[in-house]
Amino acid sequence: MAVVPLPPSFIIITAHPESPFDREDERNQNTMADVRVPKEKEREQETEVNEAQIAVHWKEEQYYYPNPKFIGQANLSDPDVNERFGEKNFPECFREYGDLLTWDHYWHTTLDTSDAPFWKWFVGGKLNVSYNCVDRHLAKYKNKAAFIFVGELEEDPPVAITYQELYHRVNEMAALLRDFAGLKTGDRVTIHMPVVPELPITMLACARLGLIHSVVFGGFSGEACGMRAADSGSRVLITIDGYYRNGTLTDHKEKADLAVVLAEKEGQKVDKVLVWRRHRGSYASAKPMVEGRDHFVDDVLKNYAGQKVAPVSMPSEAPLFLMYTSGTTGRPKGCQHGSGGYLAYVAGTSKYIQDIHPEDVYWCMADIGWITGHSYIVYGPLALAATSILYEGVPNYPDAGRPWRVAQQLDVNIFHTSPTAIRLLRKAGPDEPKKYDYHFKHMTTVGEPIEPAVWKWYYEVVGKGEAVIVDTWWQTENGGFLCSTKPALDPMKPGSAGPPVPGIYPIIFDEHAQEVKAGSGKAGNICIRNPWPGIFQTIWGDRERFVRQYYQKYNKDPKSKDWRDWPYFAGDGAVHAADGYFRILGRVDDVINVAGHRLGTKELESVCLTVSEIAEAAVVPVADEVKGRVPEVYVSLKPGVSKAGVEKKITDAIETQIGKIARPKKVHVVPDMPKTRSGKIMRRVLSAISNHMDTGDVTTLANPDVVEQIRVMVQGDKPVVKKDVPEDLKRFGEEQ
Ligand code: WTA
Repeated sequence: MAVVPLPPSFIIITAHPESPFDREDERNQNTMADVRVPKEKEREQETEVNEAQIAVHWKEEQYYYPNPKFIGQANLSDPDVNERFGEKNFPECFREYGDLLTWDHYWHTTLDTSDAPFWKWFVGGKLNVSYNCVDRHLAKYKNKAAFIFVGELEEDPPVAITYQELYHRVNEMAALLRDFAGLKTGDRVTIHMPVVPELPITMLACARLGLIHSVVFGGFSGEACGMRAADSGSRVLITIDGYYRNGTLTDHKEKADLAVVLAEKEGQKVDKVLVWRRHRGSYASAKPMVEGRDHFVDDVLKNYAGQKVAPVSMPSEAPLFLMYTSGTTGRPKGCQHGSGGYLAYVAGTSKYIQDIHPEDVYWCMADIGWITGHSYIVYGPLALAATSILYEGVPNYPDAGRPWRVAQQLDVNIFHTSPTAIRLLRKAGPDEPKKYDYHFKHMTTVGEPIEPAVWKWYYEVVGKGEAVIVDTWWQTENGGFLCSTKPALDPMKPGSAGPPVPGIYPIIFDEHAQEVKAGSGKAGNICIRNPWPGIFQTIWGDRERFVRQYYQKYNKDPKSKDWRDWPYFAGDGAVHAADGYFRILGRVDDVINVAGHRLGTKELESVCLTVSEIAEAAVVPVADEVKGRVPEVYVSLKPGVSKAGVEKKITDAIETQIGKIARPKKVHVVPDMPKTRSGKIMRRVLSAISNHMDTGDVTTLANPDVVEQIRVMVQGDKPVVKKDVPEDLKRFGEEQ
């Protein structure tokens, strides 16, 4: 891997700090024109859309360098790390991460590949995750804030929870889960909560007992929660009465009632619903508590006041949690993460890539209900005795200055968020950060590709030209970061995630398992050649799907016990530049990344089919200025039914069965779906129409005329063909 050296003087090279951003954007476009190929060549490429063209539209940006002050204090400033974590030291290099933890019994085997590709890390080791995140910090840090909770209402002052208090509250909750809820090591518990301190307290209480938690994002509907509860076999659901969203106290408990019904329909009885209250003693929901089933946690906890629960010493490979995520088939799958490997990996990457020190004030503005929140709000930071901020609300409540006021008030110095939030804040308040006196040393972006212009606003305006940025690429399945610059060692390049993080060896393959070489300018499927401690262990209850979906594509020998034969297929398209940096282009499968959240198109289509009028449905991604991608729905009706009200029924069904995050931008009721002669719906053609691309040759379809009809419906009489369409949209539905 080529490593780009820092200039000897460590001069901070910025993108013309004196220039306004619109001029900067203009300049980029000009440079883009410069790298474009001559006219004839361009025409040639238009007729044959090949992989090489994909890279042409992406301009190589200049490097930005970390500032010397950051380098001077960084946890990782020794360039030897590349050697230390090089392939010849694999897998023992990961001892360095394992040694960040406190083990009850030290492990004997760093990596066990005997059940490939079900990797086992730190085998023979025993530990407790809650002990590692809480108890072991008491000696030195008991009086330090573990969490600072910032409620959405600005008039409510932030609340700090020290490690000592966290220890108390985790123990009491663990006692309740064991003695009141009757839960035993290995049981699954579904938790449907927003970002409030009671969520990590519950997670850590589960970890203390060796229970497997399955946190469902609070914005998901009751039905979506129930489906996940059933899949994981949870008989206990933990929820909250309400929480603040856009200034309103929402009724969240009503979702629990729906979840219980749905889970039961799927064959899983939920016999206890434990309800935290946003305001102790007052109940925010209109739904009555169900006698014998529902219990207020704050009431029951009184019986466990001051109780201590010994942390259960768990094998390193014991499952810690499930995190459901969308894949290529209809149902979300439960990604199972382990204990020792996972915690070691998130601790190591929090230390080296997030550069967290115990004295930092760290704020990751994600939701704990997603993997980012698990790894980089709760487990990674706490393993390092950090102070981690929990923010309940939306980034721009009550206005786009809110995050910067929080940063100023709490003196946050590490900030972590998504491109969607950055785009939103930039649009709503481009000059807001300048009004506040805060200084970040480090900022993270995660979850989607970030456009260079947005990256530059983040760098110049939010980071005030001082903060180093890491663009971290990874997935729910991965536990922690896969590609990112090492913040004090590698220069940043807007729009590129960067080189792999220590101990990760990626490769880009084409469809024929041939390597696409760095610097070739071609895109392909990014894979990781080796296992790493944060990789998920399996799909809950579906070993076969785990192998099929992630390993089968490039596996060299299904019987092999050698990790080299099992490249991990990530499902993202990427380009590997000559300098070794990876640029992630987006999903190559049926997954849409909406505001950084994964939604399966098949999942949405099956919801549409539950509306009785619908005969067929197809969902395609379209570009959105703030959210990156949003879904658009195409449906055709059963014969003889009326079109009236169908759009609303579909939107309602999606909100009820999945949640508001999946709400389609538009629902198009079409006379028929474009289909191949064998009857397959051509999603590629629908995506081309929604995204104003050329639909290509449709003459071989069974019903070519319908394409023009739909195009006029969607685009009007004068269809526009746009050129600069993002790569994932161009590729969407290609496999058909
Ligand atoms: C996308 C989120 C570009 C990618 C941690 C991946 C990114 C999916 C980046 C996983 C990034 C994540 N640049 N794309 N820095 N980070 N992605 O499971 O398509 O919610 O496959 O995990 O988000 O989303 P997930």
